[in-house]
Amino acid sequence: MKITHKKQKTIIKPKKRQAMDGRILKRQKGQKGLYIATFGCQMNEYDSKRMEELLYPQYVRVDTPKDADLILINTCSIREKAEHKVYSLAGRFRKLKEKRPELIIGIGGCVAQQEGERLLKRLPYLDIVFGSHGIYRLSDTLNRIERGEGPFVLTDMGDEFKMPPIATPLPVPHPVKAFVTIMQGCDNFCTYCVVPYVRGREVSRPKEEIIEEVKRLVEAGAKDITLIGQNVNSYGIKGSSSRGSGAKSAFNTTFPELLREVAGIKGIKRLRFTTSHPKDFTDEIIEVMAEGLPHCNHLHLPVQSGSNHILKLMNRRYTRERYLKIIEEVKRRIPDVSITTDIIVGFPQETENDFNDTISLLKNVQYDQIFAFKYSPRPFTKALQFDGQIDEEVKSARLSTLLEVQREIGLKRFKRFEGRVVEVLVESQNPAREGELIARTTNNLVVNITASNDLIGRLINVFIEEASYHSMRGRALTP
Ligand code: SAH
Ligand code: SF4
Ligand code: F3S
Repeated sequence: MKITHKKQKTIIKPKKRQAMDGRILKRQKGQKGLYIATFGCQMNEYDSKRMEELLYPQYVRVDTPKDADLILINTCSIREKAEHKVYSLAGRFRKLKEKRPELIIGIGGCVAQQEGERLLKRLPYLDIVFGSHGIYRLSDTLNRIERGEGPFVLTDMGDEFKMPPIATPLPVPHPVKAFVTIMQGCDNFCTYCVVPYVRGREVSRPKEEIIEEVKRLVEAGAKDITLIGQNVNSYGIKGSSSRGSGAKSAFNTTFPELLREVAGIKGIKRLRFTTSHPKDFTDEIIEVMAEGLPHCNHLHLPVQSGSNHILKLMNRRYTRERYLKIIEEVKRRIPDVSITTDIIVGFPQETENDFNDTISLLKNVQYDQIFAFKYSPRPFTKALQFDGQIDEEVKSARLSTLLEVQREIGLKRFKRFEGRVVEVLVESQNPAREGELIARTTNNLVVNITASNDLIGRLINVFIEEASYHSMRGRALTP
């Protein structure tokens, strides 16, 4: 899963933000301002959107913290660095609260879940600390805070948690791209990963609810739908995915079946999904992709390491050979497929040989893009206690070697598009460059074009003039 850490210093001007996501919600008299800062993965992006919906119309989203009556930070604790960002941002908001004591400040998401009461001790000016299960109690809790109660910590995480039905949609057009959570939590316990501890056990959403949500998003203007979850392949298999992939739950729907159904919804131009786990990735999923899901020839399949020794220590439960077999089959069945991955370097006990196995895997697979990270020890995890922790300098050196190798591979992969005509879905204006639009190929790769805003939301053909590492420049051919 791609993780972004938005630079919170760059506050996007309201006009640009509207252009980016198509929202034009105006704050009416009597409505309060809500500012949300979001860190982490798409699950957090989705949760932030849900918070916005659940708190509307009492609160309307604003673009600067100084206009807000309520500030929420939706946090990520996947690596130490992500966690640190939260504390520096919270410190900035504290100053606002000193000037305006009625300002409500809350911290939600994975750091909140991880730290709970401790966070309140460390940042006593907070009004509320809530984990991902606490989002749905936010509204009531805010009412109590406004009545002078609090502070509150909402971090209990029972196994029986169910994601509540969809909130009232905001009365505005939806941007072209939309994420829909189909399951949350994780039962895999990779030895480096904090997610199972901060997101709880796997819970799938009923199919009917997902279908309803996708339909509503498409009606509101979304065209590119990504089904998200920490481990989408074990959708519908409540509890441990070790029960075998493809097994059916009480919902009676497996992930490939869900994919087929969603693909049938009228108006979807692109259907994607993330994140897949190689141990649960079945031929049936490849089959559905090959049947021609609405233009989805992209697969994000995190490998983490190319060494069997390290994969075992990570508790990934597949081998290098099994992973490569999946890739071979995906390439054979899906024309011009783009494959992306996540990699961790410097995991405890990783030798030069292990690292070289990762390099050779990269060369073998020929990824379009990779997301690579230095191993970061996390609370609660098994790897924290492992012998053979690797020095920071070694980790950094391995990361730059890896990125250098990938740079060459990625550039070659992107260059394959030069001189070709490809169909893209135009997504939005480019907030960084006036007059430029952002579009995406079926492979999920970004193409920048200079064209009129009217093309946003449309499928058009573009001629790829130039491809660099990470993005391409194209010329619109239609209309
Ligand atoms: N469920 C997703 C993972 C989400 S976390 C999956 O299985 O792919 C996204 C990525 O962060 C992981 O794939 C992994 O590469 C990286 N990551 C997780 N924990 C990490 C840690 N402790 N140190 C460094 N990278 C980590
Ligand atoms: Fe973390 Fe592994 Fe679960 Fe992904 S599958 S969220 S890496 S424990
Ligand atoms: Fe981060 Fe939590 Fe997502 S730890 S990666 S925001 S699930």
